[in-house]
Amino acid sequence: VITRVCARQILDSRGAPAVEVDLHTNKAVHRASAAGPGAPEGGAVDAVRDAEKRRLLARAVADAVLLINGKVSEALVGMDPQQQAQIDQAIMDLDKAHHKTEIGANAMLAVSIAACKAGSAEKEVPLYKHIADLVGKSATTLPVPAITVINGGTHAGNSLPIQEIMILPVGAKNFEEAMQMGSETYNHLKDIIWEKYGSDSCNIGDDGGFAPNISSITEGLDLVIAAIDRAGFNGRIKLAIDVAATDFCVGKKYDLEFKSAKKSGQNFKTADDMIEMYSHLCSEYPLVSIEQPFDKDDWEHSKKFTTLELCQVVGDDLLMSDPERIKRAVNEYTCDALALKANQVGTVTEAIEVVKQAKDAHWGVVVSYRSGDTEDSFISDLAVGAAAGQIKAGAPCRGECITKYNQLLRIEEELGSEGVYAGENWRTTTAS
Ligand code: PGA
Repeated sequence: VITRVCARQILDSRGAPAVEVDLHTNKAVHRASAAGPGAPEGGAVDAVRDAEKRRLLARAVADAVLLINGKVSEALVGMDPQQQAQIDQAIMDLDKAHHKTEIGANAMLAVSIAACKAGSAEKEVPLYKHIADLVGKSATTLPVPAITVINGGTHAGNSLPIQEIMILPVGAKNFEEAMQMGSETYNHLKDIIWEKYGSDSCNIGDDGGFAPNISSITEGLDLVIAAIDRAGFNGRIKLAIDVAATDFCVGKKYDLEFKSAKKSGQNFKTADDMIEMYSHLCSEYPLVSIEQPFDKDDWEHSKKFTTLELCQVVGDDLLMSDPERIKRAVNEYTCDALALKANQVGTVTEAIEVVKQAKDAHWGVVVSYRSGDTEDSFISDLAVGAAAGQIKAGAPCRGECITKYNQLLRIEEELGSEGVYAGENWRTTTAS
């Protein structure tokens, strides 16, 4: 049984405060942490921040820590950690606000994940297996990694407007080979950037992707294609981009030069121009997935683009991992894949429900990390247990990224011949 829940403030990969939880049972201690930033405006809130705003740029979470050590711990003591749904209900009962304003979604999630880890230990099964049981399936699917190789947008100091260019090794025979292909391509890309732009262009952005000072999307895609070619993986690696277009939507237009000191005025695009640009990119490159191609509230153009069925369209800010927004997007066909950010949801049970909702609609599911993340690798077990098919965890470098990929390597090893890599079925994989 749960005997105590203790929280502390730690730092995430951007040096911002995050919540870590030690959940004690009568047998062991189980540790979890959740990434800091929650949803965009209109979604679940971040951990309660200190009323006293002097420390850590007003982002300290000592108040959230006190809440967990106090009323959350009191509510959970005596509960069986295998009863995830009851535990999560008890946590939710303490914060009934729609946007989880009293404790914060990520603070709640850290407690919920720690309980899930305790539940798997109590049951003496691996975490992904425990999650598969909670989902109600016996899944053994290893996800295709969407590996970030180039950063831009608000995640890097260069002029590239889009946030990430990613590679998807769909042609690998297993997850281990996928990471080998990802790592080799990433390192060839570094050489290519070095040769073309010099050593100071090999600095990396928030997700570990290289951030050369390019401004055009096609220039970035061309660099990645050259790296895939040099690594010898032509045809076996597909491309994805995360546009994060909300960040440069001005009025109803998109400012592709939002980070450039000098603006030519040529790159201020309407949503229809953006659709034309994406259509062109899909025909010229092996681009199979576009995340957040429009502003978070531009349902109309997201639908218009999704309906063309040129690639997977992933809703990130559009959905905020919120069941209500997902329901609307399913009904209106506004996108056809979910970026699941568990810290926008609040508990493991709710995260699983959201995955089921997306799967029931035959959507793709991308279990996603956060750009400011911790060393917790729970999302890897979640991606396997829920048979998501896709995981996005940044570059094959930086501790908070590789901890997720390395956990997947361990899971694959443990599963042996039972471990099925989603591969070409990355969009449609379902748990049996
Ligand atoms: P975010 O980015 O954590 O800054 O929202 C993650 C992503 O979508 O790449």
